[in-house]
Amino acid sequence: MKATQLAEGVWWVGAIDWNLRDYHGYTLPGTTYNAYLVVGTEKTVLIDTCYPGFEEQVLGRVASVVDPKTIDAIVANHIEVDHSGGLPKMARMLPGVPIYCTEIAVKGLGRHYDTQDWNLQVVKTGDTLALGNKTLTFLEAPMLHWPDSMFTYLAEDEILFPNDAFGQHIASSERFDDELGKDASLSHAQKFFANLIIPLAPKVLKKLDQVGGLGIGISMIAPSHGVIWRSHAGDILQAYTDWSKGVSKEKVTIVYDTMHGSTDRMAQALADGAMDGGLEVKVCLLRDGRYEGCHRSDIVTEMLDSKAILIGSPTLEDEVLPTVAGFLSYLRGLSPGLLAQKKIGFAFGSHGGHGGAVKQIGESMQKAGIEVLGDGYEVTFRPDADEREACYRAGLALAERVRSL
Ligand code: FEO
Repeated sequence: MKATQLAEGVWWVGAIDWNLRDYHGYTLPGTTYNAYLVVGTEKTVLIDTCYPGFEEQVLGRVASVVDPKTIDAIVANHIEVDHSGGLPKMARMLPGVPIYCTEIAVKGLGRHYDTQDWNLQVVKTGDTLALGNKTLTFLEAPMLHWPDSMFTYLAEDEILFPNDAFGQHIASSERFDDELGKDASLSHAQKFFANLIIPLAPKVLKKLDQVGGLGIGISMIAPSHGVIWRSHAGDILQAYTDWSKGVSKEKVTIVYDTMHGSTDRMAQALADGAMDGGLEVKVCLLRDGRYEGCHRSDIVTEMLDSKAILIGSPTLEDEVLPTVAGFLSYLRGLSPGLLAQKKIGFAFGSHGGHGGAVKQIGESMQKAGIEVLGDGYEVTFRPDADEREACYRAGLALAERVRSL
């Protein structure tokens, strides 16, 4: 296997995980664990490693450039196991090799591995590592993605290694954004942002400001997952700014489950009203993700660029249906209210007894930081023609509201 060259002396030496389909509840078409080798005139450095079990791929690609035993130092930008899992093998292979990371990473690595014999070197923002003709500069980036995270910048080649930030979960033979295609690269990045970065959006905006204030050139962004941004670095930076600000389209995402078709009829009428009102509409039937494009991780991706989200459920034993309850739990965790521009929401559903699901959905959406319109709409048993008409009109009214934002 071969490494892929980014610039003179800079190589992708990561691993491809073709078979991964679920990553803590996020569906994905495989992923990559990107590691990079920077070969300077005086020192050779490995930036990040891989998930445990993928070390042979990393070492094989390193070996296509240099003897792995000549690695002088390792940079651990982030301790999550998909990037640090190769460290135990590397530390055994390279006894005493300095591993540069943040102070929080030292503690975190000690909780994951037996680091007693590791040569962990704490770095802070602005610290540098000279490799001869190249210099690495470190920039702490707490919570992007974990408290330990940091970015590494290679000044001479204007390459930023931001670990998870700007990543995408995609396994492919393409290594660069122009090879995979701009739209596909941004689309995978949108799903990554929606499922992992939304709660961190305020920190993203601050970090982008901080990086912008440094006045450094960024010709290439080499994240720890997916393709490397060499042709569209400006586009992914702008996309992160827009997504963090909550910039969205005149679009509504309607998500629901149904027992005997009543909540489904309401969803269809709401969708008709919203469409006739001029909105782009995405309808997602929650069935434990068995409908293509309707897994919770796909739905929040649709939600990210929607101005509104409508959520529906019948009442089952005085509760929201479990499929919808699971989605609401995921939504509350992501906290889309942290996006600078708030989304608006509406709850709907049906019941054959006391009802209550609609109220619970509205409360959950409020906890997620969504601006909920009114008390929602709940019908008894089947929605009749008047009630379906009311749903249609609610869709029209929502469209008018969305288009006025
Ligand atoms: Fe790709 Fe936070 O790990």
